[in-house]
Amino acid sequence: MCGIFAYCNSLKEKSRKEILEILCQGLARQEYRGYDSAGLGIDGDKPGEVIFFKEVGKVAGLRKQIASSTVDMNKTFVSQVSIAHTRWATHGVPSKDNCHPLRSDPTAEFCVVHNGIVTNSAALRLVLQKRGYTFESETDTEAVAKLLKYVYDNQADKKNLTFTDLVKSVLKELEGSFAFVFKSTHFPNQIVTARRGSPLLIGVKTDKKLKVDFVDVEFAGQDKDMKVETLQPTSPSALLAPPSANPKVLRTQSRAFMSEDGLPQPIEFFVASDASAVVEHTKRVLYLEDDDIAHIDNGELHIHRLRRKDDRDQSPAQIASTRTIETLEIELAAIMKGKFDHFMQKEIYEQPESVVNTMRGRVNFDTSQITLGGLRAYLPIMRRGRRIVFIACGTSYHSCIATRAIFEELTEIPVSVELASDFLDRKTPIFRDDVCVFLSQSGETADTILALRYCLERGALCVGVVNTVGSTLSRETHCGVHINAGPEIGVASTKAYTSQYIALLMMALQMSEDRISLTERRNQIIAGLLAIPAQIKKVLEMDSAIQQLAQTVAQNKSLLLMGRGFQYATCLEGALKIKEISYMHSEGVSSLVNSNTVLSHSFDENMPVIIIMTQDSLYPKVQSAFAQITARKAQPIVLCNEGDDGIPANAKTIRVPKTVDCLQGMLNIIPMQLLSYHLAVNKGYDVDFPRNLAKSVTTE
Ligand code: F6R
Repeated sequence: MCGIFAYCNSLKEKSRKEILEILCQGLARQEYRGYDSAGLGIDGDKPGEVIFFKEVGKVAGLRKQIASSTVDMNKTFVSQVSIAHTRWATHGVPSKDNCHPLRSDPTAEFCVVHNGIVTNSAALRLVLQKRGYTFESETDTEAVAKLLKYVYDNQADKKNLTFTDLVKSVLKELEGSFAFVFKSTHFPNQIVTARRGSPLLIGVKTDKKLKVDFVDVEFAGQDKDMKVETLQPTSPSALLAPPSANPKVLRTQSRAFMSEDGLPQPIEFFVASDASAVVEHTKRVLYLEDDDIAHIDNGELHIHRLRRKDDRDQSPAQIASTRTIETLEIELAAIMKGKFDHFMQKEIYEQPESVVNTMRGRVNFDTSQITLGGLRAYLPIMRRGRRIVFIACGTSYHSCIATRAIFEELTEIPVSVELASDFLDRKTPIFRDDVCVFLSQSGETADTILALRYCLERGALCVGVVNTVGSTLSRETHCGVHINAGPEIGVASTKAYTSQYIALLMMALQMSEDRISLTERRNQIIAGLLAIPAQIKKVLEMDSAIQQLAQTVAQNKSLLLMGRGFQYATCLEGALKIKEISYMHSEGVSSLVNSNTVLSHSFDENMPVIIIMTQDSLYPKVQSAFAQITARKAQPIVLCNEGDDGIPANAKTIRVPKTVDCLQGMLNIIPMQLLSYHLAVNKGYDVDFPRNLAKSVTTE
């Protein structure tokens, strides 16, 4: 995963210093998406000149390089285009050469920033090398920059060639996933940006009110007239077919970004992978769909469609014909660290509030009613479903495991939980009467999106449970619930877990509202939900005790987390957090009494174990497991309820408030999140930027 950012101002004077600051800030906000190197390309002093800054490591290093450069920072630009990138290496090691933007040639006639993977880049590279192109990097992206130049150089009628047409003919040759921003010296002050499979949005900032709050999609008919051949290593003539000079326009009502008085006005555009990068400039954003190509020129934004070979029959009527300019609801403060040292720490501490936001306006504690507006129209279909399939990855997957039992208990519908990649690998049978629920914080995890498309094709009802508004998953599902946890920047997911937990619970409660026999159980859970925020706050007060515990645990190489029933998910999620950020080996295991393999082989006095023994119906069974562990001289740390006097007096304990059995996991996970955080800090690791770990994996 990488973060891309571009800035374009039209009729709005900006100094180079200001432009560079906008770019670096845009990258810093998206650094969680990738942080092994950063780079940017801006206009030089002479027309047609591009200046690049590139640095391995974080954006702070790039800033240092800029600060020590001798370029004229006071030079001003009334209109310009600049592009920037923060990288998470897929092709090629983190190095300056592999840093984006990548260029077509030493004079950078075309340059590009890219998030995603071009899977046929090796074939493209081969063809281009045969035509004399020398590659400067190991990236898949460089082939795209060079292909642009190759196609451009081979067009006879350059006068009638538009930047969009050129990009279109190149994109058609690409396989894989991408979000691109292109800049060219042949098309000064113009941006072309396009997506397929990777997120992309455009922020719009004007002084006066915009005349329109949507942009029409232009379905130009030119693709039908244009000869398209696949560029194979053996087929050198490909791509030379010229775009038609006068494309037949099927529907064009493109709106210029003029003010209400109809006059061109100063305007700024911000292209980004994530809304957090634009929110400090503007809250007016437009999300691009897969195969959209946006062209910004002279203060106007036009959106075109890329027709691929495999969807040439798709009529414009099947594609939404406008892209709405939405107003973001996130505040800048929500994406700042504030008084905390790390985003992860801040997000752990936000949970008393984030869980309230998940429930706000949805749970009526007086009437014990749940209203998830986004699901209302689909409830009859959901209730009739033959089975429910939860599909997700990582922490989101664990929230499914955590709530599966209560979901089955309340809905009396069988629930299966699927890891998105495994679900796809198995080509799992899915039927029209299945209800598939997709969980994702980012809404952009590639495997989860592919699983969604797989289920859509098979006619199942697809429900999204997503944090990021406007994300691919939230747009492509039939209906869903936003968890409203607020932006999660820390790479290790924390508050999304507790909010997903509550969102799934609310879904089960709403689905079961017509079951009279469950009234008491439902009321018990809803009363429990009311108390949860204050109880989370109370658990957070244990922070310094957990910090001390982390110092002891840090001496060990491994840590086992044991629990069963509702707490099995807590063990898996706790162990994932520990592995992710402290790099300590950690396993979440089920404390099944009969699971002698684990019990007898793993435990001795040297094996640190956390055993979760909060009081629910399985408590006696976990007590037996505890007895077996201590018999092998291990000294487990016991995560138990306050006031539980059944725990041996000499045991080390972490005591949390008691709640309803199916909610207890939300309290129990907090000490595990804190423990993982302190373990990482204790070992001197960069908590928000764990090595080799991206926040969401947008490639398969
Ligand atoms: C864990 C973590 C990852 C994500 C996983 C799914 O701390 O951050 O394991 O949970 O990549 O991401 P989403 O929920 O965005 O689909």
